[in-house]
Amino acid sequence: MPPVIALSPVEASSSADHDYARQYAEDFVARWDELIDWEKRAAGEGAFFSDLLRQARAWRVLDVATGSGFHAAQLHKAGFDVTASDGSPTMVDRARCNLDRLGIGVPVHCHDWQALDPRVLGTFDAVLCLGSSLCHVFDRQARIAALERFRRMLKPGGLLLVDQRNFEAILAGRFSSSGRYYYCGKTARVTLGELDESRCEFVYDFADGAQYRLRVFPIRPRQLQEELREAGFHTPGSFGDFKPVYDVMSVDFIVHQGHA
Ligand SMILES: C[S@@+](CC[C@H](N)C(=O)[O-])C[C@H]1O[C@@H](n2cnc3c(N)ncnc32)[C@H](O)[C@@H]1O
Repeated sequence: MPPVIALSPVEASSSADHDYARQYAEDFVARWDELIDWEKRAAGEGAFFSDLLRQARAWRVLDVATGSGFHAAQLHKAGFDVTASDGSPTMVDRARCNLDRLGIGVPVHCHDWQALDPRVLGTFDAVLCLGSSLCHVFDRQARIAALERFRRMLKPGGLLLVDQRNFEAILAGRFSSSGRYYYCGKTARVTLGELDESRCEFVYDFADGAQYRLRVFPIRPRQLQEELREAGFHTPGSFGDFKPVYDVMSVDFIVHQGHA
């Protein structure tokens, strides 16, 4: 019987802020790399993140939602001094395993964002929060608190890169998962389950019949920009599917920049 992970509506409300670790159950995480497909994702992104970081003269980088370690590995290979972290113990195990297998010596810590501490990890030229990870936080104040935490991990003038699925288009009924940039695996299909202004459910169906679900908060890009400013960041601009000029209704992902 294929596994189906479903949460009740009550569990998916604000208590879901700390529910992410449970959503990334071992069997789902075991298939994460199949879902994202490292090779295709690397080809889709190209040198986007490393170019942005170089332009910002950011060498020491903290990846706060490392997941299975994809960006930590790419950026290490591109010459950056990377530290990885994630709050899900199963993702942390996966990242350590992937990085060991690749012979990549990046430290991987297990920290919820609220526990990130510059006295423990030091400060960084850049913080990355990628893969639409911030949308796991349902509560506005809790998101601003997480963004403030990220700011504290930055050196003065440091750069935060935080991305999101394009919930502007999704809430307007224009969900498209091109699979060109993020979820590039060919053995899984991503569709929408429940959707309203307070929650968005993604359903991942694998070719062998296994199904997993993730519930997140469908934050609109303008709202996230506002929250970045409330958390003390300057926001010079964003990218839609890695382009600085884009039509907000026709891109899958948006990457925001914040300067501390
Ligand atoms: C959608 S995955 C993205 C993983 C990776 N960045 C990628 O793009 O493949 C979201 C990640 O954010 C992490 N995460 C969500 N909320 C978190 C929190 N409050 N503290 C630490 N990690 C969190 C999850 O554990 C998960 O690994």
